[in-house]
Amino acid sequence: MSSGDGTTTPLAPYPSTLGHPLTHTVGAMRDVFGFRNRAMADRDFVRVKLLGPGDVYHLGHPDHFEYVLLSGRDDFRKSDDFRIAFDEGLVAAEGETWRRQREVLQPLFARDRLLDHADGMVAQVRRRCRRWEPGSRIDLAAETSQLSLDVLFSTLFGRELSIDGDEAIRTAADRLQDWFAPTSYPLPRWVPTPARRRFRRGKERLHAVADDLLAAAATDPPADPSAADDLLSLLVALRESGATPEGVLDDDSLGDQVVTMIFAGHDTTSTAIAFAFYALATNPEVRARFHDEVDALDGPPTVDDLDALDVTERVVTETLRKYPPVYTIPREAATDVTLDGYRIPEGAATWLTVDQIHRDSRFYDDPETFRPARWATDLRERLPDFAYAPFGGGPRRCIGRQFALLEATLALATIGREYDLVWPGDPDAEPPLVGAMTARMVPGTEFVVERR
Ligand code: HEM
Repeated sequence: MSSGDGTTTPLAPYPSTLGHPLTHTVGAMRDVFGFRNRAMADRDFVRVKLLGPGDVYHLGHPDHFEYVLLSGRDDFRKSDDFRIAFDEGLVAAEGETWRRQREVLQPLFARDRLLDHADGMVAQVRRRCRRWEPGSRIDLAAETSQLSLDVLFSTLFGRELSIDGDEAIRTAADRLQDWFAPTSYPLPRWVPTPARRRFRRGKERLHAVADDLLAAAATDPPADPSAADDLLSLLVALRESGATPEGVLDDDSLGDQVVTMIFAGHDTTSTAIAFAFYALATNPEVRARFHDEVDALDGPPTVDDLDALDVTERVVTETLRKYPPVYTIPREAATDVTLDGYRIPEGAATWLTVDQIHRDSRFYDDPETFRPARWATDLRERLPDFAYAPFGGGPRRCIGRQFALLEATLALATIGREYDLVWPGDPDAEPPLVGAMTARMVPGTEFVVERR
């Protein structure tokens, strides 16, 4: 694998299983997951023609991931989409700007520091699920979406959202995904599609929220940054102490980080929690073991219980394998690249297909089965690097990984002790999964709440 000349190197084939390349866009829009399964049925590296991005190179082997995310990462960059949408936020920044931001932010997401937020996370979960009427139906995706926003705001930004209010913030947060709406894809980025206009309004609103939060945090920053009890006050205190590189924590950049964290940390975690409950509801044996574990707790989970939540943790791990919220990690070739005998031309969209690797029988036995117990074996040691990549990999691996794992584990245990979320549909039918920028539960999918 290398970058460089490559002009005589062939391009990857269009998959014969997909029909004529001009029909690819329609196929992908109709059912993105079925389309990818067909495209990558017998190959790890294919080319797909999509209106908008043009030829998109799909890579589905752990070695490809290793090259793009780690050893050959300088040959790839984030696409302009991220920069246009998130300015200098961590998810979009490149080069030295990204490196300095990551250096400042990384320690704040260390597991030890996040454990201080565990009780706050549990309190947010309890506040929300206490409103569920036994016997009623809830739109689970909507509930977990609100929940993950409640948790983000109360822990990272030090601001508890009103459970029945703060509609403007909640709507604005939902609109961040609209930048990547598939209906806008075929059109040039300057075209103000309705989805893009919704995105812009949402982003402006959240920037205004970020300004208010920053102003509040700046009124009385703790002299010692380590005394700050949320991420935003900590960042403000670090800035005031003069200990950070110039430009990393100015007001604009902090606003970009707030919007980025809402975008990157909201739908992803919420989808993971929703699908964990779907998987529990449709796998009675797993559910029974999960119930045994959470019933053995003395009360709502605390930090001290985390070591006892093995089954719960494995349910989260397996959910992220079978239903990875970030099912594609997108990059753009920064130069002509030769990979596995094929050429990726400079500027070409290059997509790492996380969902395909996670269901590859070369790496996982019986990959279609939801089986958390597989993680109780030596599977992790046996798996090739990058064969499990729900959080990406290399230096740009998800900074919120520990946050998301902690939140999902505590949310499952808190809800699971008190409620059974019953799936009223056919357990053998296709899961209620829809693919946009991230994979999500089909909006409006209902579960019946039963008190345990
Ligand atoms: C289950 C939940 C989550 C999943 C599946 C997930 C997945 C990912 C993935 C795959 C990446 C790498 C993207 C790439 O390389 O292009 C990423 C990056 C990122 N994630 Fe997450 N994420 C989750 C939760 C969170 C949370 C809770 C936060 C923040 C509170 C967060 C913040 C970020 C940021 C800022 C980046 C960019 C990091 C960088 O480029 O240095 N994520 N996430």
